[in-house]
Amino acid sequence: MRAIFGTTMSPPALYVSRLLPDPVMTAIRERFHLINVPEDAVPTETELHAGLSAADAAICTLTEPITELALAQARLKILANYAVGYNNIDLQAAARKHIVVTNTPDVLTDATADLTWALILAVARRVVEGDALIRSGSWRGMTPTQLLGFDLSGRVLGVIGMGRIGRAVAERARGFRMQVLYHSRQPPDTDKTPEGWTYRRLEHLLAESDIVSLHVPLTPATTNFIGPEQLALMKPTSMLINASRGPVINEAALVEALQQGRLTGAGLDVYEREPLLNPGLVSLRQVVLLPHIGSATLATRVRMGMICLENIDAVLNGRPAPNRVV
Ligand code: GLV
Ligand code: GLV
Repeated sequence: MRAIFGTTMSPPALYVSRLLPDPVMTAIRERFHLINVPEDAVPTETELHAGLSAADAAICTLTEPITELALAQARLKILANYAVGYNNIDLQAAARKHIVVTNTPDVLTDATADLTWALILAVARRVVEGDALIRSGSWRGMTPTQLLGFDLSGRVLGVIGMGRIGRAVAERARGFRMQVLYHSRQPPDTDKTPEGWTYRRLEHLLAESDIVSLHVPLTPATTNFIGPEQLALMKPTSMLINASRGPVINEAALVEALQQGRLTGAGLDVYEREPLLNPGLVSLRQVVLLPHIGSATLATRVRMGMICLENIDAVLNGRPAPNRVV
């Protein structure tokens, strides 16, 4: 055991809300006193509040609402969110308790951009419908008119939110020879924008794109950012992709637009009220639905855990956290 706090020889107490991949759990057990047995399931509110109250540091993720009440008894120094997004945390409540909050940027950018393209390709080429046809046992062989999708080459990709993930999605469009339009909150820095990417106002991006992909964080300003009016601007031949946060889209409006044929398809990794689904979604065959797996590769999920530990080590040893958000 090494000394962490002055003369104290016992390792710091850590609360971990969810079971993390094995290499992360091993690293945790070597360096911390783990105060709970993390499980695959979401902790109850009581378990969460008890864990946050008893620990020096905590690792939580987006399934845990870290409210003022959850932090009421906390004596944490740091809350490391195992995610790039941190909309699950009341940042002001954490700041009032002098709790450092950190996230896991950068390491999940490529995994999330890849998953975004998995959705784009799956919708455009009807991959899930094809798989279902084979498994149903009713396939009678290659048919010239079966499961016709649409080409990506030469089409227009509209990226909303040009942070790390949005840029990585746009970079991948080059291999598909697609034109990239983008919209972002920050005014475009044209010197830093790769050639061929063009800034558009939101209304114009929606009207001109064949594929619209969302890469904004969830904030009050982006909640239901894509609603009936925005969907009405999109081409009936276009599709909407979301691997950011569910509430960015008004899900009921999306279902209605798809049902009425005002959009061709959608690829979703996130939902407005996870894990609940809008019942209309499952009966739409032109929609591909994934269970919030944007960053879900083993290597990425291990790196996210190691980043949480680096931040915790820093704060408990009196150094600045490398990935501090407040
Ligand atoms: C996942 O959704 C994340 O924010 O990392
Ligand atoms: C957005 O989620 C980013 O990482 O830029």
